[in-house]
Amino acid sequence: MKSLGILLSGRGSNFVAIADSIAAGRIPDAKIAVVIANRADAPGIATARQRGLQALVISSKGRAREEHDREVVAALKQHGVELICLAGYMRLLSPWFVQQFPRRILNIHPSLLPAFPGLEAQEQAFAYGVKISGCTVHFVDEELDHGPIIVQKPVAVLDSDDEPRLAARILEQEHIAYTEAINIVLGGTAEGGCPHMNRSHVNHSHMNLPL
Ligand code: GRF
Repeated sequence: MKSLGILLSGRGSNFVAIADSIAAGRIPDAKIAVVIANRADAPGIATARQRGLQALVISSKGRAREEHDREVVAALKQHGVELICLAGYMRLLSPWFVQQFPRRILNIHPSLLPAFPGLEAQEQAFAYGVKISGCTVHFVDEELDHGPIIVQKPVAVLDSDDEPRLAARILEQEHIAYTEAINIVLGGTAEGGCPHMNRSHVNHSHMNLPL
């Protein structure tokens, strides 16, 4: 049984998608050991409590980055976390944090990276005029929205789209993509997508956690 740790700052729909996938058996042999928010008002933390999960608020307000990260990492280790999923965690991790969990931290971003990293990815996509956007799940390294890509899902930008509509369609794909990425990293089988599309250019064998 692999222990996941979720870090979030907001509504937590990706967290809920992961939790639902575990409950439905789409992510086998895994559990959410702890959910941590850096803001007390993050709706996702209330959802985690309602679901009976370990849920912590470790406020980052006014804290130096690494000092806050040390507290978060201590909590993750205390709960035996082996794989960390950033799910709308609006705080850049310090290099020290990243080094504590090499290839054990995943992030999801609402664009086809390396296009449009950072905030307002859909706004950036509109401003550039791309016809295809999407989402990316990747390993986290020391740079923002950067690191080896695990899964991407394309989403067409329609002439009738505005940012909220595009964001909603991308979010649907995010929820599918995160489950697939976790399964790839844990060595399971990705479900719900096209394995050829997701796997064609990347050899995922080196990504699996040791048994
Ligand atoms: C998602 O769009 C994710 O890609 C980005 O932040 C948003 C979080 O949404 N990193 P939610 O809190 O999971 O609903």
